[in-house]
Amino acid sequence: MSTQTVATRHVSEFAAEVRAGLTKGGQRELPSKYLYDELGSALFEAICVLPEYGLTRADARLLQNHAREIVNRLPSPLQVAELGSGTGKKTRWILEALSQRQKTYYYPIEISPSALAACEKEMGQIDLVSVVGYERPYLEGLRAVADRRKEADHLLVLFLGSTVGNFDRDAGRNFLRELRETLLPGDALLLGTDLEKDIQTQILAYDDPAGVTAAFNLNILGRINRELGANFDLKSFRHEAHWNAGERRIEMHLCSLRRQAVEIPAAGLRVILNQEETIWTESSHKYKAEEVLEMAADTGFRCEGQWIDKEWPFAQNLLAAI
Ligand code: AVI
Repeated sequence: MSTQTVATRHVSEFAAEVRAGLTKGGQRELPSKYLYDELGSALFEAICVLPEYGLTRADARLLQNHAREIVNRLPSPLQVAELGSGTGKKTRWILEALSQRQKTYYYPIEISPSALAACEKEMGQIDLVSVVGYERPYLEGLRAVADRRKEADHLLVLFLGSTVGNFDRDAGRNFLRELRETLLPGDALLLGTDLEKDIQTQILAYDDPAGVTAAFNLNILGRINRELGANFDLKSFRHEAHWNAGERRIEMHLCSLRRQAVEIPAAGLRVILNQEETIWTESSHKYKAEEVLEMAADTGFRCEGQWIDKEWPFAQNLLAAI
């Protein structure tokens, strides 16, 4: 497919999803995957170093402290695929531990071309590691990796950073089930999950005083302006982060500060938002440690190990495909 065709397909899919989310009855919403254009991905990198957002540091600490133990519980030869690798910074610990025992192929699967290029460059510098990137959606990329493996190879899939928490709970389970179908017994999944903690800490992590998360959230409207020719006035919206106790998740919303009309030409849409009406942009589900084990058992995995950070409740879960 030509680059032009891919770009056109992207715009029409984006427009269709924006249209569907903003016109569905009841709560309006936008799919959280559209938070991550080039600016959104850069803002997310900034979120990861915010003092209030301990999640990424906990994830990295666990990998740094336990990489060897994790790798030692896995069979050889082992190849590594990562869903949503970003720039792959945290993965270095696993690849370095693994490269001490074998030559390793690392397959980052990432839809952001700039993050993927940075990842290929960085990780390709580790001795005995060859990097082959896939600019594809998660499962499509994983199927491509699974198709090229040699018979004796085992696969370790990394799904870090609690990205699974951005799926609704049922969708998360279905995703793990589908992921399991691309694997063979003896393969493994290293799944990062953010655990429930006190509500104030959780809210601050998604509503930091420097306003970085607010900028990240508002950028989805900026992106619709840039790519779909819309006229959202970003100053007429307020970022909000709520704890939904029933669903045990943080929800990010954009609240309209006044009654306003917005035109989105590429989606053939004009919407009227009432004052205080919100657009729901993302959910981040939080887990209990035991719940992850139950979720694993329910989706075709056995837990081989669970490591929990002491500073910021977060778990790395090593799940073997059975
Ligand atoms: C990518 N994902 C796991 C982040 C989270 O914590 O849900 C995205 C994020 N949204 C706001 N801050 C971070």
